[in-house]
Amino acid sequence: MPLSSPIIIAIDGPSASGKGTIARKLAAHFGFAYLDTGLLYRAVGLAVLRAGGDPSDPEQAIKAAAALDAERLLTLSHDSALRSDEASVAASKVAPVPEVRASLLNFQKNFCAQPPDGAPGAVLDGRDIGTVIAPDAPVKIYVTASAEVRAERRFKELQERGENVTYAAVLKDMQERDARDASRSLAPAKPATDAVILDTSNLTADEAFAEAVKIANAVLVTKTD
Ligand code: DC
Repeated sequence: MPLSSPIIIAIDGPSASGKGTIARKLAAHFGFAYLDTGLLYRAVGLAVLRAGGDPSDPEQAIKAAAALDAERLLTLSHDSALRSDEASVAASKVAPVPEVRASLLNFQKNFCAQPPDGAPGAVLDGRDIGTVIAPDAPVKIYVTASAEVRAERRFKELQERGENVTYAAVLKDMQERDARDASRSLAPAKPATDAVILDTSNLTADEAFAEAVKIANAVLVTKTD
């Protein structure tokens, strides 16, 4: 038994809200381990695609999720194909399947209970960290921004990657994906009742990070007093 249980920082929010950048920087700031849980769903979606299957078919998604053990998930998380739009769309199709979520639950719970490399805490980002994976996390932040601002950020990112897209198409895609994530019956993407909402619509990345540190410190400093 460790002397004290690891400190968990739960970061949730919709895509392109800035939550990934904030979570990664928080982990570095506090010396905690970091897990981008979206990658787990992307890994399942991509595994189905690579087997020549259809991610919308729950049976294929369940089989792919069951075949991914912890070691394979960690190896896969470095695969750059997971960052593709194709993997992201496939992920949003496998994510509503209850058995898929159940398969990935243990991996995430274990990561919280025993962060890699003996880190004293962990930062996880996703959609259901504060509600399902780590409901007792002392720090919960729900990072959000208007759909227009998020679409603008994603549009710039895709343009920089040389992809031929329009802002209107990116916005439509963002709104459809938000609706899919928020309306699914199991673990819908919504803030935990005790999460602090951080709206990054009018903040630079540095300002958003500074706010997140303030929110975390307000809890962690009093906790360790
Ligand atoms: O954050 P992302 O774009 O990598 O997430 C990919 C998909 O996985 C997205 O549709 C939401 C889903 N997801 C989820 O349901 N639960 C999580 N904890 C993380 C991601």
